[in-house]
Amino acid sequence: MQLPKFVRMVEVGPRDGLQNEKSMVPTAVKVELVDRLSDAGLGVVEAASFVSPKWVPQMGDSAEVLAGIARKPGVRYAALTPNLKGLEGALAAKADEVAVFGAASESFSRKNINCSIAESLDRFAPVMEQAEAAGVPVRGYVSCVLGCPYEGEIAPKAVAEVAERLFAMGCYEISLGDTIGTGTPTKAQLMIAAVAERVPVDKIAVHFHDTYGQALANILAALQMGVTVVDSSVAGLGGCPYAKGASGNVASEDVLYMLNGLGIETGVDLEKLIAAGAFISDAIGRPTASKVARARGCA
Ligand code: HMG
Ligand code: MG
Repeated sequence: MQLPKFVRMVEVGPRDGLQNEKSMVPTAVKVELVDRLSDAGLGVVEAASFVSPKWVPQMGDSAEVLAGIARKPGVRYAALTPNLKGLEGALAAKADEVAVFGAASESFSRKNINCSIAESLDRFAPVMEQAEAAGVPVRGYVSCVLGCPYEGEIAPKAVAEVAERLFAMGCYEISLGDTIGTGTPTKAQLMIAAVAERVPVDKIAVHFHDTYGQALANILAALQMGVTVVDSSVAGLGGCPYAKGASGNVASEDVLYMLNGLGIETGVDLEKLIAAGAFISDAIGRPTASKVARARGCA
């Protein structure tokens, strides 16, 4: 079995996780979470989202979060930016990288960002230009790559088309999001194969939600395809406010435990990661969704 020697773990818990919390998480808690995650050795922490606070009030303190963290040299603190207004906020708050987010499903695009796929790409173009002018790398997300809450099955070709467009616009990496976690390993491989015909595989990241308990199997299937970048969320925080029933992202602790077992390097410390997950689970008063953390005695 051909597997990579090193996997870059992209921590999305403070954004993808906390954007979905019913209660407002205090800014100081978010700041401590981000700092604990960088201290655990994660090289990229998605810490903020400059979206409309009317749509996602949970992310309304993104500028304060980025102002409050202790920036660790070498760590990139990322933020979502759906449009130019979002980019302005992210640049003012000194995000190290930003992300535009599109979808492979028309219906999801409308529900999530209030425009069609084609319109979203038009909106992203000036974001790309101004981010480039500011020297800030842009990541591109594609949602609903293995199913849509409104349209059901999504053709791999539809995913590949949006991924190709985002890559051609200048996104340095394309993160393929199984937003509702319905994917299974062979489907994931077929979808990645379709995307890899148009985007180099070393520019592809995978972003699995674990709603159906398939995420680790899907990640292993993706690694077998040559993917080396994996998004995950500490304590399995999260979901998506515009994808009913979507549970959290795959737990970072569980991904790391699997990668450690496979002998794949990450630079991330499992004990510190578990402690960060315990911290946020305590703070929001919910049990961790990480099986590894539970096995290690976290409530
Ligand atoms: P819209 O209503 O069509 O935008 O929303 P608009 O341009 O007409 O603006 C409406 C109002 O929002 C105006 O304010 C704007 O100023 C304000 P008003 O005049 O009414 O007072 N506004 C903003 N405010 C702050 N920051 C901004 C911003 N833009 C406009 N950037 C918009 C369009 C994209 C803004 C909206 O639909 C939105 O914010 N959507 C975000 C939805 C979201 O955050 N979803 C979750 C993240 S995606 C995800 O989780 C999936 C992912 O994890 C991958 C996966 O799992 O698949 C990435
Ligand atoms: Mg997500």
